[in-house]
Amino acid sequence: MAWQELHMGSQWLPFTPNRSFGKDPRVFVAAEGMHFTTHDGRQVIDGISSLWCVGAGHNRKPINEAIKKQLDTLDYSTAFNASNDKAFAAADRIAGLAPGDLNKVLFCNSGSEAADTSMKVALAYHRARGEGHRNVFIGRERGYHGVGFGGMSVGGIPANRKVFGSALLPRVDHLRFIHDPVNHAYIHHQEPVWQEDILLELENRILPLHDASNIAAVIVEPVAGSAGWYIPPQGYLKRLREICDKHGILLIFDEVITGFGRLGTPFAADYYGVVPDMLNFAKCVTNGVFPMGGVICRQHVYDAMMAANAQAPEHAIEFFHGYTYSGHPVACAAAIATLDLMQEENLFERAGQMGRVLGDAMHSALKGLPNVVSIRTLGLAGAVELAPIAGAPGKRAYDVFMSCFQKGSLVRPAGDNIVLCPPYIVTREQIEQLVGTIADAIKHHAG
Ligand SMILES: Cc1ncc(COP(=O)(O)O)c(C=O)c1O
Repeated sequence: MAWQELHMGSQWLPFTPNRSFGKDPRVFVAAEGMHFTTHDGRQVIDGISSLWCVGAGHNRKPINEAIKKQLDTLDYSTAFNASNDKAFAAADRIAGLAPGDLNKVLFCNSGSEAADTSMKVALAYHRARGEGHRNVFIGRERGYHGVGFGGMSVGGIPANRKVFGSALLPRVDHLRFIHDPVNHAYIHHQEPVWQEDILLELENRILPLHDASNIAAVIVEPVAGSAGWYIPPQGYLKRLREICDKHGILLIFDEVITGFGRLGTPFAADYYGVVPDMLNFAKCVTNGVFPMGGVICRQHVYDAMMAANAQAPEHAIEFFHGYTYSGHPVACAAAIATLDLMQEENLFERAGQMGRVLGDAMHSALKGLPNVVSIRTLGLAGAVELAPIAGAPGKRAYDVFMSCFQKGSLVRPAGDNIVLCPPYIVTREQIEQLVGTIADAIKHHAG
């Protein structure tokens, strides 16, 4: 199909420069394994798991078959006052993978809904325990928790917030960011060791400012993904857990990107040995094939909400929240098949192993190239950060992204970073191809 034949007038593209898109459209019509086919018949390697979703690679037959079978058996059923067998089975499977007593799964349909759901659980939980005054949320600079009003408020990426300031939640504060560009510009599968304790600010400034007794929850991505793969300092998440425990504050991990194998473990919570009170997931849980998100809650969170209703009549609903498609049977069938497939093919372990290969390749091929100021790799993901063009932040990375696409590689521009997070089935040769294409593009845009 020639691009002139594409009718692109009706779709308003999300998070995309719409005005320029039509001049050089990037349209996929098929996918298999690591590759897409574009509308003009080219093969493009998927270097970003289609935005962190397609861990097992594209067009995986066991997932497709499970979806087809589910459609022929139970296509859809309401989620309120009834449920479906696949939703219980998927919840069992997901909770079974999660560490500690993260036992209760509240389903939704996206990472944004997971953020808002977890924040609503936090408010309801505290109220259930007689602490309804706990209504302050703490996010982190450059965090991303989707585009709902809750997630956007605790999020910290300036461009995502600037137009919506008047509608952001008022009782929110942000931790400082976790990157030290001078001392920790180059990180290869190690935890940056900081001289200072960057959580002192939480203890000494933010908690006293709001009074710790008013704080409902702290929400962080264990590894800051959307901003460009920034790795937490050594001991950071453990210390955050301790501070939250000390003050009765809930800790929420947004694992929409890190969940289901990206670090070589089921969750980043496993990798760092820290169990949050709630863990948000989406994306890889269904291999991206069918929308699904959710919040896994620790037992005490669920128990407190039920206990508060102990005297209520049996028909009383304990938590007024949910979505029409929560626990959609087709999504749940896709999730079960995805997690089965990942287990059968040891894909979490493979992600861990190939992550080393990716890190080695990025550091050896990209360090020292023009404008490269930082490279950070952990698990099967990495970012190379470029010095911004004066007055045009993000342009250099965008140009590199466009050049890579022209050469058949889909990479991700995030601010002035180029991010790679390929499917777990990626081979060494494909990693070399992706990194080599980025290196060529960085050199090409050196001026
Ligand atoms: C950490 C994190 N949270 C939430 C979201 C939002 O997910 P969705 O786009 O499915 O709403 C994302 C999306 O990339 C994410 O990376």
